[in-house]
Amino acid sequence: MTRRVAIFISGGGSNMVSLVDSMTGDHPARPCLVLSNAADAGGLTKARARGVATAVVDHRPFKGDRPAFEAALNAVLRDHAPDLICLAGFMRVLTEGFVGGWQGRILNIHPSLLPKYRGLNTHARALEAGEREAGCTVHEVTPELDEGPILGQSRVPVLDGDTPETLAKRVLKQEHILYPAVLRRFAEGDRRPIYLP
Ligand code: GRF
Repeated sequence: MTRRVAIFISGGGSNMVSLVDSMTGDHPARPCLVLSNAADAGGLTKARARGVATAVVDHRPFKGDRPAFEAALNAVLRDHAPDLICLAGFMRVLTEGFVGGWQGRILNIHPSLLPKYRGLNTHARALEAGEREAGCTVHEVTPELDEGPILGQSRVPVLDGDTPETLAKRVLKQEHILYPAVLRRFAEGDRRPIYLP
């Protein structure tokens, strides 16, 4: 049975593009929706160009009422009936109320080697700490931020003279390889983690 995948974005959606473009041929999943909290997210245009349904649920009218925002998310999801959700550059924190309804079926990619550097500005913090390697992690989403079971990681070297921008670019290339690989395995029901390179 083909698994239906909803992808949440907030910006350019480069990870979303990698995921959508990977779901072809004998892949056990297909994209059913790209949802953004930002109507001007560049990824929405890329999704539409690929024939994927899109939706926008702007978080701003729900300011201070996360459950109401998440109820609006779930109302859209009910129309598209995904089996899995992939967070891909989605910049809103989801509460236990939402995550609990999707636990075991919702993934995220984070630009650090978790459990190191949860939260934001991961590359600047890794450089500040003098790390000699960095990378990205795909994990199951649980109510605690960036805490869920690890499903995959990819490591890159930190090079002399790296800035947060040069490091982010190197890590992003690995994200585009790791996330599709993890999604395919996860969609097949296999939760064994993938470690790259
Ligand atoms: C990526 O670094 C990803 O790890 C983080 O958001 C950034 C932008 O992702 N979650 P994308 O280009 O919008 O997919």
